[in-house]
Amino acid sequence: VTVAAIVPAAGRGERLGPGVPKALRPVGGVPMLAHAVQALARAHAVGLVVVVAPPAEVTSVRALLESYDVPAQICVVAGGDSRQLSVARALDSLPPDVDVVLVHDAARPFAPSELVDSVAAAVLAGSPAVVPALPVTDTVKRVGPDGRVVETVDRIALRAVQTPQGFARDVLTAAHAAVLPGSDPVTDDAGLVERLGRPVTVVPGDPEAFKVTRPLDLVFAQALLDLRRSSGAG
Ligand code: CTP
Ligand code: MG
Repeated sequence: VTVAAIVPAAGRGERLGPGVPKALRPVGGVPMLAHAVQALARAHAVGLVVVVAPPAEVTSVRALLESYDVPAQICVVAGGDSRQLSVARALDSLPPDVDVVLVHDAARPFAPSELVDSVAAAVLAGSPAVVPALPVTDTVKRVGPDGRVVETVDRIALRAVQTPQGFARDVLTAAHAAVLPGSDPVTDDAGLVERLGRPVTVVPGDPEAFKVTRPLDLVFAQALLDLRRSSGAG
């Protein structure tokens, strides 16, 4: 069985503020994307990593990743206008022998390799779609367009979903093929599988697989990297 990882990295990072595309912002001197690719390549399961770069950065991203010693085969393709389209481009480029696909945000640079392997293992054990998730810690309220609280949502049943998400290749391909033209893009791949009515299973997530979205997340990312480097694990 061949497992490939797709890394959507073609976003601009608008919520992080002005600057180079988010995946290329450095943490500890190394672009987030390179951290993310290394985390995937270090996982035992992953043999091929397909990075989806901003269209203007395909050549520079190729050169960047060649400059790091990554223990897996790397391909770089150009992304689309939404995360969903970026993943679809990468799916189209996969070689025929791949039968399990992991999709992992470049914006989650410190996902532990153990998490990557646990998601892959759950797919290999027969689950067609697998997401890592954590309990929600904040109280969550539904708010109307007028800014008034409609209700407090029962937190017990809620999960915050992370990546890597894992799929049987045929299921993820069918989920993308079923997208109706003009429909709102989903923010994760499991969302498309849910639309197909196929089961999506949950494995425990990991706080270290957090997503860098806003400026304060970079402070947390740097602190985590410092901690890993001082313990010899970075
Ligand atoms: N992504 C992508 N192609 C897009 C949009 C997003 O490959 N057209 C990727 C991002 O690079 C990121 C991942 O999807 O690794 C998760 O998306 P998000 O955190 O929303 O990143 P951005 O879209 O870059 O950030 P923002 O929404 O703040 O602009
Ligand atoms: Mg986005």
